[in-house]
Amino acid sequence: MAQLDILRGGLNLPPMKKVKVLFVCLGNICRSPLAAAILKHKVKSHELDPWIEVDSCGTSNYHIGDTSDPRTIANAVRNGVTIEHCARQLSEKDLETFDFIFAMDKNNYQNILRLSNGHEVRHKVKLMREFDPRSKGEEVPDPYHGGEEGFQEVYEILDRSITEFLAHLRKEITAR
Ligand code: 4NP
Repeated sequence: MAQLDILRGGLNLPPMKKVKVLFVCLGNICRSPLAAAILKHKVKSHELDPWIEVDSCGTSNYHIGDTSDPRTIANAVRNGVTIEHCARQLSEKDLETFDFIFAMDKNNYQNILRLSNGHEVRHKVKLMREFDPRSKGEEVPDPYHGGEEGFQEVYEILDRSITEFLAHLRKEITAR
């Protein structure tokens, strides 16, 4: 199956080390902090905290130090998820540190690779929706300039994609 190939392809997970997952969007106030909060919530409920570490950041410097967008926080609460995050910008060091780097859209994806400075990181950079069972490879739409329905759509896309990703990651973790 395609997703399993993605997981097996480039990753040699070191035994007993935490798997580090990074979500990346443009501003780090809407999509990526929500994605991180959803994964943290699922990790906790499956008691996987000792094995998985989660963070998020933005490719831009627009919102460094800001809390998440109030519309994102409100939407997360409505869906039973808590967000506690302070926006930060993606750095070259993140490309070394993290095992999985999820871009919300194709611009984010290109900007992540641009920062790689010749280091081969392509194997760990994925589009988030590669794991969406309803739509492989499309983008997570930017809800910033839209209404509440856009935030709920983003929540549902992320919830589906992250559920799928975590199912595969759990298999990998338990098999090692
Ligand atoms: P995000 O959404 O990338 O999902 O955090 C955005 C937040 C802010 C802006 C654009 C997108 N902005 O242009 O300030």
